[in-house]
Amino acid sequence: MGPKGRGSNLKAIAAACEDGSLDARVRVVVAPKEEIPVVDWCRENGLRVAGVEPGENYGLRLVNALEGCDLICLAGYLRLLPDEVLQAFPRRVLNIHPALLPKFGGKGMYGIKVHEAVLAAGEAESGCTVHYVTPHYDEGEVLVQRRCPVLPGDTPETLAARVLAEEHRAYAEAIRMVIHAGRTST
Ligand code: GRF
Repeated sequence: MGPKGRGSNLKAIAAACEDGSLDARVRVVVAPKEEIPVVDWCRENGLRVAGVEPGENYGLRLVNALEGCDLICLAGYLRLLPDEVLQAFPRRVLNIHPALLPKFGGKGMYGIKVHEAVLAAGEAESGCTVHYVTPHYDEGEVLVQRRCPVLPGDTPETLAARVLAEEHRAYAEAIRMVIHAGRTST
């Protein structure tokens, strides 16, 4: 989850695991530091948290924290993921982006800036994309895209809220696809 630590995608994934719509469980929540809002929520809800601060041996420390995970879901992670993680979990790392990639993606295109750019471009629709993570920003095979309209009078904030509602559905759908593919391919 990102530095602001809102964690709404995490909460949506955890809720889908809880209500059985996802046959999965959240094994660990990796946060850059412990003092972010959703960490308290994790503890109250019985989710294990690992604080992994960027710095020396960051990649290896992340790999250690993620040990035993089958799938890693990034949400609001703004750095390039260290190579060690991608090597340890090939085709096992997903990211969500709040726009219809390949449009409005790439370095520096995150958070409210994405929605500002969508509005400035006069787009009639926006949405979100869940994709596999590669060593480059916002590239990698797309698993799920969900769309929503851009409405007259939208501000970046109103558009962000509409897109976020789609993100919560899209992440669960993408995880379901990966789980299903894992079960059918052997
Ligand atoms: C989401 O909008 C996601 O698309 C972006 O960062 C935001 C994270 O939100 N990559 P949350 O912490 O899951 O609420």
